[in-house]
Amino acid sequence: MIILGIETSCDETAISLIDISGSFVDAKNPVNFKVLGHSILSQIDIHKEYGGVYPNLAKREHSKNLIPVFAKVLSEAKFENKNHSDILENVGMIEEIKTILNREESLSEQFIKYIPTIEKPPIDAIAVTYGPGLEPALWVGISFATALSKIWNIPIIPSNHMEGHIMASLISEKDKNNFQILPANFPIIALLISGGHTELILTKNWSEYQIIGQTKDDAVGEAYDKVARMMGLPYPGGPEISKLAEIERKHLEEVDDFSGPRISGSLSQPDHEKSSTSSDAKISLPRPMIKSKDFDFSFAGLKTAVLYSLKKLEPLSDETKKQMALEFETAVTEVLISKTERAIREFSARSLVAGGGVIANKTIRGALEKLAQEFEIPISLPSVNLSTDNALMIALAGYLNHSFGKIHKPDKLKADGNLRLQ
Ligand code: KG4
Ligand code: ZN
Repeated sequence: MIILGIETSCDETAISLIDISGSFVDAKNPVNFKVLGHSILSQIDIHKEYGGVYPNLAKREHSKNLIPVFAKVLSEAKFENKNHSDILENVGMIEEIKTILNREESLSEQFIKYIPTIEKPPIDAIAVTYGPGLEPALWVGISFATALSKIWNIPIIPSNHMEGHIMASLISEKDKNNFQILPANFPIIALLISGGHTELILTKNWSEYQIIGQTKDDAVGEAYDKVARMMGLPYPGGPEISKLAEIERKHLEEVDDFSGPRISGSLSQPDHEKSSTSSDAKISLPRPMIKSKDFDFSFAGLKTAVLYSLKKLEPLSDETKKQMALEFETAVTEVLISKTERAIREFSARSLVAGGGVIANKTIRGALEKLAQEFEIPISLPSVNLSTDNALMIALAGYLNHSFGKIHKPDKLKADGNLRLQ
């Protein structure tokens, strides 16, 4: 089955085409797929100027970029067959498409110019992200999917962005351009950490989710971005903080003064509130909620603690920034690990999955790998290039939904910014 995936929930315009077979319902065999086309256009450089993502700016950019990205993917898949103009004569259809795309001026113009010139590609279903995310941005992808669905008569499958991140983590490469998703060891504990989400999810079967813990305020990536901004670092802040932390960690290792984040050594719960970064660390941040008996998180207090510490240390030297970055990253890692550990234990998890943009972070990845090792359970992490938003994961989530018969009537699909996994 050939699935077109469309992702526009935040600041990446992404489209992928996969050819996939096998069934998640029959959980004994792997699901195999090939990537026929894959493209991501990041808006980061545009949002950088403003220090964050602006929904209406994101919407405008998606509207401008979707057709070029789509054309690129079709040509990569060798599906682009030009000079096909039959549909142009169908004036009624053009009017209908204009109505569907009426909120997306730039997309509508390009759509009407480009789509009727190509032959209908052999796509069996269109999977599109309908939430969670920025609603104005989500609507662009949904409208595009709806218009394609109408003009080519292809069914639409709605995909949950967070389910997509889980699917991205489960991909394994068989050989060049042949990928698979292996039968999973349930129950799975999944830790999803991104710019908008921090969630611990229990999944006992394919397509069944229970959110057991989540952030009460800021998401991990959001905290990284805000702390970076306080230190005058560019957006997105995660990679910037992570780079500084890495330099400081190396330095401390050289002088033998760093033990790394406490991965709750021998699985005992850490109950400390102070720094473990350095024996004589000048900066010490709290580990919010590390002692609470639930699976929830809170990062707003940590961010405020960074702000107060930085104020006391002004003017900020490069040295202070590096120390702060390391202490912040260590605090975040310890809290994430402690809660994930408790969840694995409580629900007797047989595998660990982690995903979302923040999982590109080497320290957090390493700490989670160590945790899984201690429990002797497998861990699934996305490759670094699939940890950020992409449409391959949306096509996969679409196939999963399709396996379980969750196909929507195109006209009924609506963006849901606060969509939750269930
Ligand atoms: O999943 P994602 O691409 O978009 C959302 O759905 O939010 O995640 C983006 C987030 C940003 O907050 C970014 O700062 C963070 O992931 N991030 C990182 C790293 N790379 C990206 N955070 C920490 N360390 C990194 N290496
Ligand atoms: Zn994401």
